[in-house]
Amino acid sequence: MNNLYKDIENQIVNIPDKIESIGIITGAGISQESGIPTFRGKDGLWKNYKPEELATPYAFEKNPKLVWEWYEMRRQIIKKAEPNPAHYTLVKMEEFFENFLLVTQNVDGLHEKAGSKNIIELHGNIWRARCILCNYKEFLETPLPEIPPHCPKCNSLMRPDVLWFGETYDTNLLNIVQDFFQKIGLLFVIGSSGQVSVPVYLAKEAHLNGAIVIEINPDFSMYSHFADIILRYKAAEALPILWQFLKEKWQN
Ligand code: OAD
Ligand code: ZN
Repeated sequence: MNNLYKDIENQIVNIPDKIESIGIITGAGISQESGIPTFRGKDGLWKNYKPEELATPYAFEKNPKLVWEWYEMRRQIIKKAEPNPAHYTLVKMEEFFENFLLVTQNVDGLHEKAGSKNIIELHGNIWRARCILCNYKEFLETPLPEIPPHCPKCNSLMRPDVLWFGETYDTNLLNIVQDFFQKIGLLFVIGSSGQVSVPVYLAKEAHLNGAIVIEINPDFSMYSHFADIILRYKAAEALPILWQFLKEKWQN
């Protein structure tokens, strides 16, 4: 623990005494301590399928039941999960800053559950389903009464309203993030491997525009290549302490 305090104290000396706006990118690692397995690594496997084999339009076309079963398994885990101190620290940060944007790759809804407001869910939300034909959307509880679920409007198949491999991002959302990230002084990247390239690109662009990038992740990631400050700790452990230091620095 002492090391963690010292490490943070040493690393934040170069952060300016005044920061006007702040951006956050989170990935599956921030929810790991809430009991939600990350995608990559041994925990990411389900019945010997890799996420890359299930989270695709092709997999859904071939076997919608299998894909929905995987999402149901995840929805059941997520339903029981509570936000952890890292999620709650981001709520406090948002209260402190007038200009704050939280961009999450997570579909678990835990940031909203914790109380964060200005959130962009870049990869969608696991609680929402969308009709593949008429685009009707609705929030569906778990357990689902039927798998796969059908649209109440047109009776076509419903799919999880999340972004799958091979699908394109919502350009409106990307534009909002890019505009905001152009003017931030600081960017936190928390718990993401960077194996999905668009969020890495957004972070890199912010960095090129002058943002100081702070990574919190126990392991190396694609963000580590350009992060200015790297904290190799778990998010729920490091973020509350980092925030204590920064708040003190900025309140004076
Ligand atoms: P990954 O599962 O690829 O990476 C999780 C990262 O979290 C790894 O770098 C871990 O080292 C780190 N990690 C693990 N425990 C942690 C902890 N307690 N605190 C901090 N970090 C920790 O997850 P993402 O990068 O979010 O896409 O994956 C990106 C996207 O790939 C996901 O949004 C999902 C997936 O396919 C879609 O659903 C479209
Ligand atoms: Zn429909």
